[in-house]
Amino acid sequence: MNAIVCKNPDELASRAAEEFASVAKESIEESGAFSVALSGGSTPLLVYKRLLDASLDWERVYFFFGDERNVPPDEEASNFRNANKALFRPLRIREDRIFRWRTELGDPKAVADDYFVQLVNGFSEIQGAIAGEPAPRSPGVIQPVFDLILLGMGSDGHTASLFPDTAALEEKEKFAVQNWVPKLADWRYTLSFPVLNMARNVVFLVAGGDKAEALEKVLEDQDSDLPAKRVQPANGKLSWFVDSAAAVKLSDANI
Ligand code: 6PG
Repeated sequence: MNAIVCKNPDELASRAAEEFASVAKESIEESGAFSVALSGGSTPLLVYKRLLDASLDWERVYFFFGDERNVPPDEEASNFRNANKALFRPLRIREDRIFRWRTELGDPKAVADDYFVQLVNGFSEIQGAIAGEPAPRSPGVIQPVFDLILLGMGSDGHTASLFPDTAALEEKEKFAVQNWVPKLADWRYTLSFPVLNMARNVVFLVAGGDKAEALEKVLEDQDSDLPAKRVQPANGKLSWFVDSAAAVKLSDANI
C-alpha cells in the first residue's frame, strides 16, 4: 500500500479534495448519483473547505456519516454539526440528501437501528435515481455500497468509531451499530467493517506526528490488527493521504 505523502495538512486537504471531486464526477457521469460517507474528526474539515470551490452537481450527492458521537446534532463535538457548518450550509445541500445519525433518539440501539433504516432508504433512493424511477416503496435487500468513504485514524489506530478492543470490531451482520467505548466511557455510533469493506473507494486522511506510530503499524506491520488496518475494501480502491509528520516512520517503500 503506497501512501500519498503530502508536505503538510494544507496540501493533504487539497489533494484529498481533488480525489473526492474526481470520484464524485466519475460516479455522477457513470450512474447519475454519488454516495459518500463523511468522516468525523478535525482533519476532514480542511478538505470540506476546499470542496466549496469544487464544481460538482451537488444535487446528485448523497451524504452519509461513517460515524457519530453520542451528542445532540447541534453540539460542537457532533460530526454532523461540523459538516453542516463547513459544507452543507455553505453549499445549500438539500436536507433530503443528508442522512445523519439521529442521536437525539437517546437510546443507543434505537439510534443505530434508525441509521440502518436511513441507509436502506438512502440507497433505495439512489437506486431509484440511477434507474430514473421513484424509490421503490419496499426497498427489500439493500447493500450500502458507497462510492466513497472518507476515514480518519486516531493515534490508537481506531477509525470511524471502531476503537481497539470494542465490540463493534466483531460485527459481521449489521451495517450500523452502537459501540460502547470504555476509554471514552461513552457510546459511539459507527458503520461496521462489512460496510467499509464494500465501498468502491476508501480514502484515509491522516495528519500529525501523533499518528506516526499507528500509521507505521497499519501500513507496515503484518502482525498488526489495529482497526484501521482491517479496512481492506474487497473490490474497492484504498488510498491513504498522509502528511509528512504522520509519515515520518514509514519506510521508503511505502511513500
Ligand atoms: C471521529 C472520527 C474519528 C477520527 C479520528 C481522527 O468521530 O472522531 O470518525 O475516527 O477520524 O479520531 O480524528 P482527527 O482527524 O481529528 O485527528
